[in-house]
Amino acid sequence: MNLVSCGICMNTCGTISPVCFLISNLISDQYMMNSAFSAVELAPSDPILGLTELFKSDNNPNKVNLGVGVYYDDNGNVPLLSCVRLAESKIVAKHRARSYQPIEGNTQYNKLVQTLLFGSDSELLNTNRIITAQTLGGTGALKVGADFLRQIVGCSDVWISDPSWANHQGIFSNAGLKVNVYPYYDPNTRGIAFDRMVEQLKALPQQAIVLLHACCHNPTGVDLTADQWQIVTDIVVDRGLIPFLDIAYQGFGSSLDEDGAVVRLFTEKCQNLVISNSFSKSFSLYGERIGGLSIMSGTAGEAKRVQSQLKRLIRTNYSSPPIHSGALVETVLADSELKAQWVNELTGMRERIKKMRLDLSTNIAKLCPGADFSFITQQKGMFSYSGLTKEQVIKLREEHSVYAVESGRICVAALNSQNVEFVSDAISKVIL
Ligand code: LMR
Repeated sequence: MNLVSCGICMNTCGTISPVCFLISNLISDQYMMNSAFSAVELAPSDPILGLTELFKSDNNPNKVNLGVGVYYDDNGNVPLLSCVRLAESKIVAKHRARSYQPIEGNTQYNKLVQTLLFGSDSELLNTNRIITAQTLGGTGALKVGADFLRQIVGCSDVWISDPSWANHQGIFSNAGLKVNVYPYYDPNTRGIAFDRMVEQLKALPQQAIVLLHACCHNPTGVDLTADQWQIVTDIVVDRGLIPFLDIAYQGFGSSLDEDGAVVRLFTEKCQNLVISNSFSKSFSLYGERIGGLSIMSGTAGEAKRVQSQLKRLIRTNYSSPPIHSGALVETVLADSELKAQWVNELTGMRERIKKMRLDLSTNIAKLCPGADFSFITQQKGMFSYSGLTKEQVIKLREEHSVYAVESGRICVAALNSQNVEFVSDAISKVIL
């Protein structure tokens, strides 16, 4: 028998007497009443990551998670890219000591991020008007950028697309900015509500922050055309707006250069630009939290001051970024062979997603001749705004164990040759 030690009378007597039991309950009630956290309310689960928790507890062997934006290979695994594996071996072989990194992160990494975003031949990079800080993923870059705009520049409002990545709202409002939306997606045409978007942008006050998805719009998969980007950049310049480009999926829409074209367009026309980038998806380094925040200022002197403020913001937030994740990306990007291998692997991921888009739309066309899902093949990146209603999404989850975000967003990158028929069948059943 396990002896129970009574915390009230301090006897190890094998049982707790009813009197001691009563006293102990009274004491714990008293503690509860005095707890500083007793009024804390239960927060709703995250609309995207909360789904992964639900998915994990589902026992259906055929379950499919189309919720979170993660690329899975054709066997349903998150890939460890070969270029990353090789880079990791090189890093480990060096057995480096782990002192603190500079507040703004690894200098060489930051330079390599700049070449990827602005082009290796960019003359702009020689002007020292751009500073980059290694951040904790794209989310970290968004938060540091938002803090900078709110606390240092004094901005009050940000405008995000309707719809946008679910976390944009929370990140910017946590930074103290008022979050507004500009029209973006038109469900009737499954395209951009461009006239309304333009009308709204033209009405924004000076110094309003406009958050734009540089490529592979999350959640819709619908990007602006090159002509539309020209119009948008002109408005940004005319109205004196502050453009904040979120580029988390570079290389998933088209080539790295094509997906980065919007960044370069903004640098040609604007004085200022804020960019958050992420390597979670393109390097399959989700859990390593690796990204960057780049800010373009009017002059080199201004950039220096901006950098000093960023360092203050980072220092009082998480002090400095970790070594390993930056070293992985740096090692790949700095080595021409590894970089070529990365571009190759990224191309493979992009092409596989395109094939899945085609397979899904072809299957649904066969199963549901009345439904036209061909728009899925036109969308770019990991996501598709499927047009499924919230009720259909819930049905999909509860009756078929296929998980999608309630907005109807599906992550096409989680489809594979073994589950695409199952998913097509499930979608066909809920839309019938
Ligand atoms: C997504 O949109 O699903 C991804 O960016 C993952 C995340 O953090 O939400």
